[in-house]
Amino acid sequence: MDYQNPKVAETAALLKQRFAELTNKPEILRSVELRALYGEIPQLPAEERGPFGKELNQLRAELQEMVDQASEQAEALPPIDVTAPFDVNVPADKRPGLLPSETGSKHPLMTELELVLDIFYRMGFNAVESREIDDDYHMFGALNFPEGHPARDDYDTFMTTQTDASGKALIAPAHTSTMQNRVLKKYIGNLEKGEPIATLIPGRVFRNEDLDARHEHTFYQLEGVYVNKGVHAGMLIATLKTFLQEYYGKELEVRTQPFYFPFTEPSFEFALSCPFCDKKGCNVCSHTGWIELLGCGMIHPNVLREAGINPQEYTGFAWGCGLDRLVLMKYNIEDIRYFQSGRLDFLRQFA
Ligand code: DAH
Repeated sequence: MDYQNPKVAETAALLKQRFAELTNKPEILRSVELRALYGEIPQLPAEERGPFGKELNQLRAELQEMVDQASEQAEALPPIDVTAPFDVNVPADKRPGLLPSETGSKHPLMTELELVLDIFYRMGFNAVESREIDDDYHMFGALNFPEGHPARDDYDTFMTTQTDASGKALIAPAHTSTMQNRVLKKYIGNLEKGEPIATLIPGRVFRNEDLDARHEHTFYQLEGVYVNKGVHAGMLIATLKTFLQEYYGKELEVRTQPFYFPFTEPSFEFALSCPFCDKKGCNVCSHTGWIELLGCGMIHPNVLREAGINPQEYTGFAWGCGLDRLVLMKYNIEDIRYFQSGRLDFLRQFA
């Protein structure tokens, strides 16, 4: 399109050239040059404003059209036949077209996980990722669940029909506590140097749950483990409260109630005042003002002993917290299943 006004014509040429090189095409609509031209309108003599504004709107419409076309082209790529043999030596221009990576965006859970990790790094924790297939020993044995103990049934664990060398089924971990024994053993040297074991373990966990807006079969947990001389439950509460206040960016109240886990003694259920309504009552906290968030406690002496740590000398605390629930509450998301659903309308709100 030809533009009469030299400034508009010049900007149009410049932006079209830039458009060709941009990876994120919609950025062109927010360019400073375009905005500067709109900013000039009020300074113009009254009779020039109309024609100038009209040309500018035409330019904007032209750019919008280019952006729309580019995205249609990206979406219209033919589907990839994943069963076709793939020849790695094929020249690049003959390979099947892939969707450009700029059409994707980071998953909201991963964005939030990075914020969480940053808070814990600043508190002196390191991080170890958990695994997605594990064994009976790490799921139960190392965590003080005796063989046949009814607490094993609380975890609705998915198991394989295939068995490992000890004849036991492999397990899709139902909690990140499966990593406790490994982390304690890995960092036992810290204790000998007079330093704490302070590790955050993010990971995906799987449970054979009845699904609803609050329950999903696959979700993320954040396990925390802290061991040193003289560690007590006050430190556990202070650590979690500090983390939650940083994450939600506000003062919160916290509350613990006695609970039972085989791998902690004492064990607690940990609740926080609703970050959404500040205890006034809302749909996020089911109008109670409080949210039961996680399980935690002082690491059971048997768990420390199993990892080769002397419980007479060292004590520690641990917790396991659902990441999805933290994020759900931060943004008042109504259904936990959106996270795994691949719904673009949901994901795009966080892009
Ligand atoms: N693993 C527990 C669960 O998923 C949560 C938990 C409780 C983790 C107490 C811990 C802990 O580390 O000390 O239900």
